[in-house]
Amino acid sequence: MSAPMYSQYANEYAKAITDNVYNALLERPSMLAMLPELEEKTILDLGCGPGAYVEHFLSQGARVTASDISPEMVQIVQKRFGDEVTAYVADLSHGLPNEQDASYDLIVCPLTIHYIEDLTPLFTDARRVLKPGGSFFFSTHHPIVDFEVSPSGNYFSRELIVEEWDTIGHPVQVQFYRRSLTELFTAIAHAGLCVANLSEGCPAEAMKEVSPESYEHLSRNPNFLFVECKAIS
Ligand SMILES: C[S@@+](CC[C@H](N)C(=O)[O-])C[C@H]1O[C@@H](n2cnc3c(N)ncnc32)[C@H](O)[C@@H]1O
Repeated sequence: MSAPMYSQYANEYAKAITDNVYNALLERPSMLAMLPELEEKTILDLGCGPGAYVEHFLSQGARVTASDISPEMVQIVQKRFGDEVTAYVADLSHGLPNEQDASYDLIVCPLTIHYIEDLTPLFTDARRVLKPGGSFFFSTHHPIVDFEVSPSGNYFSRELIVEEWDTIGHPVQVQFYRRSLTELFTAIAHAGLCVANLSEGCPAEAMKEVSPESYEHLSRNPNFLFVECKAIS
């Protein structure tokens, strides 16, 4: 089921993340800095939300397929980009049953895997649908940050966290899974993938102007983790 933030408030979310601190000035610039040249690449955008990444990929001359569990998000993407993108509703916890083997140069899954309890179907299928030499990029909450709100205090337990976020200007309840680095990296290895690159993100210079306190904080404290995986041959 899609969370209220991404279904009921899809339009508000779309507006908020165009220029906010955490998405527009930290997550996207950090992820985009890891990606290779995109022209002519086939890209699968997983958990595409309202299409901030789709917009960038199309502007760079890539061919894009996008999916999201929220019909409202998929509708926004279809309305914004029409025939330029193939977009459909899908729950990534079931893997990628609609996608063919070896069909994408890049898979990009920003800020979505923490909504999925068992990563095995998704990671196994990510490996399957990557072309030889392709890369699977994802970003997620940094485990250090999520451990601060652990109900059990046991870092090694996977836990469902319930929080209220102010992303859209008023509190909305969000639920996500907190997991250890060990669990994350074990899921990567079990899927036949290996880590080719890792980043802990870096705030954009523009954040200095928009929110000097956030810039100061995020220059000293990690918030997200960015991982590039490749198939083990
Ligand atoms: C934080 S938003 C990120 C949106 C987009 N990737 C971006 O960075 O702008 C997370 C997205 O993941 C989607 N999502 C959550 N659980 C999902 C699931 N099980 N399968 C597919 N998409 C999911 C939500 O609907 C939402 O659009």
